[in-house]
Amino acid sequence: MEVNRVQTLASNQLKELPPQFIRPANERPENTKALEGVAVPIISLSQSHNLLVKKITEAASEWGFFVIINHGISKKLIQRVKEVGHEFFSLPQKEKEPYANDPSSGKFEGYGTKMTKNLEEKVEWLDYYFHLINPPSRVNYDLWPKSPTSYREVTQEYNKEILRVTDNILELLSEGLALESKALKNHLGGEEIELEMKINMYPPCPQPELALGVEPHTDMSALTLLVPNDVPGLQVWKDNNWVAVNYLQNALFLHIGDQLEVMSNGRYKSVLHRSLVNKEHKRMSWAVFVAPPHEAMIGPLPLLVNDQNPPKFSTKTYAEYRYRKFNKIPQ
Ligand code: SIN
Ligand code: FE2
Repeated sequence: MEVNRVQTLASNQLKELPPQFIRPANERPENTKALEGVAVPIISLSQSHNLLVKKITEAASEWGFFVIINHGISKKLIQRVKEVGHEFFSLPQKEKEPYANDPSSGKFEGYGTKMTKNLEEKVEWLDYYFHLINPPSRVNYDLWPKSPTSYREVTQEYNKEILRVTDNILELLSEGLALESKALKNHLGGEEIELEMKINMYPPCPQPELALGVEPHTDMSALTLLVPNDVPGLQVWKDNNWVAVNYLQNALFLHIGDQLEVMSNGRYKSVLHRSLVNKEHKRMSWAVFVAPPHEAMIGPLPLLVNDQNPPKFSTKTYAEYRYRKFNKIPQ
């Protein structure tokens, strides 16, 4: 099946945005500007443990979003992750197409672009590459880019480092709920916890004030760890306003996703966020979604519910949650 890539469209030097990308007035960035002068929480992982638990817990409850510094992932590795992603998207179109995914037939992994099913439906201004990176036993390396040749080695190294940081964050978030430190990780499948890489590529857009890179959504993962390139665009929803997230070199941008909101019975908030695009510059971001295995049962943790705090969410498998979210069926 022929897919029209946004990258191909953008390379035609369009003056006007094609209609399927033009958002209704109430969604357009020009009419929904971010609040000025508000900054998202920035948290150093190297501060004292008790303070760290307090800050992370506060940010996860009030924002569902925070920026992490001093996480121990080397500058060099983050740089290489960005380079290999960049190199893949710079390949000639015909070398990328063999990796095309096909979500309509259940093949989510690979190179993708969302398509409109009807005239009213709007699409986002991006192409992406999505693939599983952990656990190794479930990874199909044939679905990863083979070019550049260092892609696999770099991404495996990044997986190790992201797993280490994830463990750390999940421990801190467990402690913040007065649970033993391994509680959240264990409920997310322990060593079977899944990590998925999504590289987002937003080409320069002729009329960025009318379009969205990614429409407002919460992530269905438990946690998302993201690094962007230096072109701003990410915005998070806080107290009824959009707040722009500034670029910070070598920082990790953390989103609390739906599964942690459910497990914490609403104490941690799944953050609504969106991304904007740029007229001159290509924006890219590398998101790692941390999620339970599909068969895991996810619900409010028993230790967090009692007569005063009844469960606010139903318990179901992650597979069921995903199915409902994709098909817009209430949870
Ligand atoms: C997303 O949340 O789906 C994308 C965020 C980004 O590109 O910064
Ligand atoms: Fe997201």
